[in-house]
Amino acid sequence: MRDLLAAVTALRERLGEIPQADERRLQDLKTEILGRKAGALTQILGALPDLTPADRKAVGAAANVLKRDFAAAFAARERELARAAAPGAGGGADPTMPGRAAWRGGLHLVTQVVDEICDIFRELGFTRAVGPEAETEWYNFGALNFPKDHPAIDAQDSFYLGEGVLLRTHTSPVQVRTMERFPPPIRVVSPGQCYRRDPFDPSHSPVFEQIEGLVVDEGVSFVDLKATLGAFARRFFGPETATRFSPSYFPFTEPSADMQVSCSVCRGAGCPTCKQTGWMEILGSGMVHPAVLEHCRLDPERYTGFAFGMGPHRIAMVRHGIPDIRLFFESDVRFLSQFTSGAP
Ligand code: DAH
Repeated sequence: MRDLLAAVTALRERLGEIPQADERRLQDLKTEILGRKAGALTQILGALPDLTPADRKAVGAAANVLKRDFAAAFAARERELARAAAPGAGGGADPTMPGRAAWRGGLHLVTQVVDEICDIFRELGFTRAVGPEAETEWYNFGALNFPKDHPAIDAQDSFYLGEGVLLRTHTSPVQVRTMERFPPPIRVVSPGQCYRRDPFDPSHSPVFEQIEGLVVDEGVSFVDLKATLGAFARRFFGPETATRFSPSYFPFTEPSADMQVSCSVCRGAGCPTCKQTGWMEILGSGMVHPAVLEHCRLDPERYTGFAFGMGPHRIAMVRHGIPDIRLFFESDVRFLSQFTSGAP
């Protein structure tokens, strides 16, 4: 039995001959090792019935593994030889074959838009801030001056992870975390994912991106808000872009205003993207509510600020005339590759 195990081990060495073998040598090796009668491995397997059950098990296992390895090595070498013999393979490459271009990945359109927006704000003197996606009710609502009975503070509308802890419904809690950590002057933008119990339909997704903005300093006024957001809009949508503000409401800003830009698709003439109005709403904004400053231990008599929030999915949609937000999440390369230079 020891002899048989030694024979299996010795035979294993011969696996190394296979990758170099030419066609004839390969056939000879096959006969020599796996041949039906005289094959070395065949003979070892044939001797198994004469062994005690324990020995049979040990030698049988080793021999069968080796048989499988030989079969795989022979098959691999045969495939290699066949490929080498195929037309055009003689000199290496077939010059008549069309080239196979490597498929380069690219950044998702929404990632590109987020980067572009943050780059513009960086030129305007903003830095990037981040905050957690799992938030407490205090940061997501309370500190932002939401009334206690606001409908969003409800498992019906938000994804709760536990008592008082939820997936953030907007990036505005990063305002609070930033004001707590850094003294004014503050100028930050904060991109990130947000979550709401919304249906997955052409204009909603339960997961979506937002970019928050916050400026706090002495003497910041609504003029700064309009000038900053106007400068952003002209850089992002083009120098001829007009902006207009309409009154709005958010619990954490007072006064609040939605900003619209002249439609970048029809230049204001009226088209489906702007629903024939010539204007597209792209963000909410306002002067930071004194109660929010107080929650962050900033004196509202000394400091004022403005904030804004926008949705990069929506901005990408209005910029490119994309009709359905679900296209961003379906990973269909035919859609995504329109916006990258690297795809096929
Ligand atoms: N958090 C708001 C939302 O999710 C967006 C927003 C509006 C953010 C106005 C702001 C703001 O900072 O000033 O709809």
